[in-house]
Amino acid sequence: MKTPVLDALIKLMKEDHVSFHFPGHKIKNTLIEWGEYIPYIDTTETEGMDNLLEPRGIIKESQELAAKAFGAKATYYAVNGSTGSNYIAMATITKPGDKVLVQRNCHKSIYNGMILNRLNPVYLYPNYNEKYHVLTGINPEDVEKAIQENPDIKAVIITTPNYYGVCSDIEEIARVVHKYDKILMVDEAHGPHLVFSDKAPISAIEAGADIVIHSTHKTLPSFTQTSMIHVGSDRIDLNKLRDRYTLFTTTSPSYLFTLSNEIATAYMDGEGREKLGKNIDKIDEVIKRLNAIDRVFVFTGDKDDSTIHDKDNTKILFRIDGIKGSKVKKILREKYNIRLEMSDYYYGLALTTVMNEDADFEKLISAVEDIAKTEGYEELNQVSIKMPTPTMRMNLHNAYYAGKEVLSLKDSIGRISATSIIPYPPGIPLIVPGEEITQELYDHILFIMENGLEIVGLMGYNKDQIVVIE
Ligand SMILES: Cc1ncc(COP(=O)(O)O)c(C=O)c1O
Repeated sequence: MKTPVLDALIKLMKEDHVSFHFPGHKIKNTLIEWGEYIPYIDTTETEGMDNLLEPRGIIKESQELAAKAFGAKATYYAVNGSTGSNYIAMATITKPGDKVLVQRNCHKSIYNGMILNRLNPVYLYPNYNEKYHVLTGINPEDVEKAIQENPDIKAVIITTPNYYGVCSDIEEIARVVHKYDKILMVDEAHGPHLVFSDKAPISAIEAGADIVIHSTHKTLPSFTQTSMIHVGSDRIDLNKLRDRYTLFTTTSPSYLFTLSNEIATAYMDGEGREKLGKNIDKIDEVIKRLNAIDRVFVFTGDKDDSTIHDKDNTKILFRIDGIKGSKVKKILREKYNIRLEMSDYYYGLALTTVMNEDADFEKLISAVEDIAKTEGYEELNQVSIKMPTPTMRMNLHNAYYAGKEVLSLKDSIGRISATSIIPYPPGIPLIVPGEEITQELYDHILFIMENGLEIVGLMGYNKDQIVVIE
């Protein structure tokens, strides 16, 4: 048999590229002294080891040390990404049939968690900054209003920082949520590093969230799939969490991933703190230098916008006037061997971690400068990439399990979607099962496809069909 995966990986390893994307370890051996044996360690709950599903020994001790490092009451290493951790946390804080208040631009794993746990969502739409074309955060006042209108809500589930690094005011949201005796869950998949530097925005655990999910692999030097669940308060039933953990976790959890969670935390709790602080200072300088280049703009927040409480600038969000973000990403990759995490119509996003060195930043500045000086200017339409707001016509999980048929996208306007349509990245659904397909949504989908952005959930070779409720 041929080995196409191996061949592609070898090619990627040999390519001397600069990584501004996941995984957070950036395919570097910088942590060699911490993880020299990682490739060779693959074991199970044999004598002398421990069981991630029921930790009593070394894993228990390691998780307790991690809880200390993250300032949590308890920490659980997880091996199925924040996807699996979101399922576990949602099953812990609710029971089937419960109503939850959910940020509408959450990751698809939250929607899948609602289907799996049969939850009924009330959505909180994120705000959109028209001046800078950036999806921003959630207002504490909107959370309070939604709770007052839906007093039977069991829990509030928000996502912060968002993919762009925009942070909501978690402290104030936690205060509101707790005032009404509800539980606050924060999907902080993009923020495991925050707690390790005072120069970064406040972390959700520090801000008072009850349960917090981390993708260790996204912003810390750790293997893909590694994740953690942190408990911040006594509102979380640890026995129930332990039980739901086993419901959604393989009975053969990987020691490589378990160890990688430990190593990433141990590193960050030690020399990683200083490195992160140093990188944040360097990024401040990088932002100044990028902003000094003609045509280049780095988004670092907007003082006039109260929905941007803070901005995590380890995610460098920049644009070059007259060039689409997706084109900038392509040129950086093809001409300069620099891989960005993502792009949209306007922006490119360079996702940095402690594994990025000054030389990486210098390469980015000089490539962006070169592109800004040499690339032609294209008039960009001042389009709003605000999310559509489809109407929910059927309960999410009922729609998921209902009878279905396939229609052309054009003919589906007015029908109820049986599927999720998701631009990638960032993996946030435009529509989910049970919602009405509108002209606005149709136009938005065409806009995304015409601009060369990846979208999943559509059918047919040309992605011009959609699954609807029969
Ligand atoms: C906000 C958010 N939550 C959860 C996830 C799922 O994370 P994972 O890939 O670790 O399963 C993602 C993935 O990109 C995400 O962006």
